[in-house]
Amino acid sequence: MSRETVTHTGPDVARVFAPTEQFQAQANADASHYEHADRDSEHFWATQAEKLDWTRPWDEVLDWSNPPNARWFTGGKLNVAYNCLDRHVLAGHGDQVALHWVGEPGDTRDITYSQLTDEVCRAANALSSLGLVAGDRVVIQLPMIPEAVVSMLACARLGLVHSVVFGGFSPAALRARVDDAAARVVITSDGQYRRGAGAPMKANVDEALMGAETVEKVIVVRRVGEPVAMQEGRDAWWHDLVSSQSPEHEPESFDSEHPLFILYTSGTTGKPKGILHTSGGYLTQVAYTHQAVFDLKPDTDVYWCGADVGWITGHSYIVYGPLANRATQVIYEGTPNTPHEGRHFEIIEKYGVTIYYIAPTLIRTFMKWGEHIPRGYNLESVRLLGSVGEPINPEAWMWYHTHIGRSTTPIVDTWWQTETGAIMISPLPGVTATKPGSAHQALPGISVRVVDDHGDAVESGGGGYLVIDKPWPAMSRGIWGEPDRAQEVYWDRFKAQGFYFAGDGAKYDEHGDIWLLGRVDDVMNISGHRISTVEVESALVSHPMVAEAAVVGAADATTGQAIVAFVILRDRNDDDTLDNNDVAKVLMAHVVAEIGPIARPKRLLIVPELPKTRSGKIMRRLLRDVAEGRDIGDVATLADTSAMRTIATSMAGAP
Ligand code: WTA
Repeated sequence: MSRETVTHTGPDVARVFAPTEQFQAQANADASHYEHADRDSEHFWATQAEKLDWTRPWDEVLDWSNPPNARWFTGGKLNVAYNCLDRHVLAGHGDQVALHWVGEPGDTRDITYSQLTDEVCRAANALSSLGLVAGDRVVIQLPMIPEAVVSMLACARLGLVHSVVFGGFSPAALRARVDDAAARVVITSDGQYRRGAGAPMKANVDEALMGAETVEKVIVVRRVGEPVAMQEGRDAWWHDLVSSQSPEHEPESFDSEHPLFILYTSGTTGKPKGILHTSGGYLTQVAYTHQAVFDLKPDTDVYWCGADVGWITGHSYIVYGPLANRATQVIYEGTPNTPHEGRHFEIIEKYGVTIYYIAPTLIRTFMKWGEHIPRGYNLESVRLLGSVGEPINPEAWMWYHTHIGRSTTPIVDTWWQTETGAIMISPLPGVTATKPGSAHQALPGISVRVVDDHGDAVESGGGGYLVIDKPWPAMSRGIWGEPDRAQEVYWDRFKAQGFYFAGDGAKYDEHGDIWLLGRVDDVMNISGHRISTVEVESALVSHPMVAEAAVVGAADATTGQAIVAFVILRDRNDDDTLDNNDVAKVLMAHVVAEIGPIARPKRLLIVPELPKTRSGKIMRRLLRDVAEGRDIGDVATLADTSAMRTIATSMAGAP
């Protein structure tokens, strides 16, 4: 069926929005991108890579002689930070604002490309002065302040491998990441603003680093004025160590495959994986996708990605993609309702934001707060909207389109993962018609399929697994410290076919467009953040009161999924003064301490037993049914059918 003749009007394929002539006329992308890539995808990627500055040209675009280990632009050399900074200054754009930074309490900083370059050079000189050499690891746990961007780029400039840890992670989670990467330096701040108040950060770092053997130095940015204990010899203030350095720094070139960063993400086991990304291929794909998918015009656009640098979206679409493309962007430190629910719209109006990229969770939150809030601001500058992190439901898409996009701007629903490094599936604005709820199709140079259990393509309308069937430039180069694990986790599922298995379910509609259906494994998606059920279960059973735990992601109208935990307690002789509500509170706090607030179960049920198959496997599907309030249906394979009744009954009164 052709793109124009839409006859299917089911609940999900309601409408198709063709690009406006006006947008099309000025769009960065056109159909030739697909044609070029279809003819010769390596040539297509080489053309994109040529837009970067290389100090040595590559010998081969792609070396795929040892799958699944790809090497892109082999032998090529470049400096990633130079590409994000110096080259723009040298081309005469030093006075262009790189960052319009907005602090939560209302303080602001505008930082030009010249100033950002100087600051990154100072930070690079500071890190060199500590004796760090290319390949060493630096852990960064900072709020959304300019120093986060500066620290990442300073590492990139020196060939140091950064590992950014989201500010909401607990000391235990931070420690695990510090140890796994054997980090020599940690960069943090005294505290962070959260909903109007300062919360400690350095104190958490101190707790995390107790007995950590690899860390020689902790650099502390003063942000909230929290009193901190500085450890003699180990700790230094950013304003002492960095600010006194020279702003001159000669960038060294690194191999295209030199490691750029590690970013930990949850998989199906209890231990997060350190996803490794390298330099040349990664920068090529984040720069191309940022330019084509967001239609960036560096001279006129004001771009705003609402992610945190602690996640991959912040790495690829706040730091590396936008800065490689000389974007002017807004960075906002705080929560969207501090001090009021119009904060984002106020910022859009003030800076004339033209491109706005957020997660569906936030869109649904805006919906809940009400459309009268955006209506109170002038949002006319907005010309393109983006969505990322989880499937966007058609209602949220339509609300975004109507109330933020004035019913005219394209919406790009971008599917990708920490492992893919850059956007893989998305409409190209000005080229593709968009549909509420569909991420459309693979970008030029990217090849994906939806397949069944045997790896065969599914029929249109049928559900299957999303796989990527050809290597791509920004693909992860493996799991830090575990060279064989990536093969097992991502490639063994469709080994015969050589497909990368993303862990997501998907389907094609009758136009051949892709709809993402959420994870098919034990990974939950809470407000666009990945957390594995096993990770939360491990945290729960690490508490002495817990005998057994099962965790499921239940559908939630705002956060996409919410964590629901079912817990069996050990005999509690000493603690039986606590009632179940108190115990649930203690256990929730324990999960927060082990992982961080993002992993706090929304509901925690104390149950006498868990539903298991006769072979002893917990039946998560049934637990999800109970958690989502569905009829529990067929329980024929359950070893003890009374378990479900007990659970369903206790669900009613759960906190
Ligand atoms: C989900 C975030 C549907 C998906 C960039 C994927 C999406 C996981 C979309 C990766 C989207 C991301 N539509 N689902 N547009 N974008 N996802 O590693 O399940 O934090 O596997 O990367 O988020 O999450 P991650």
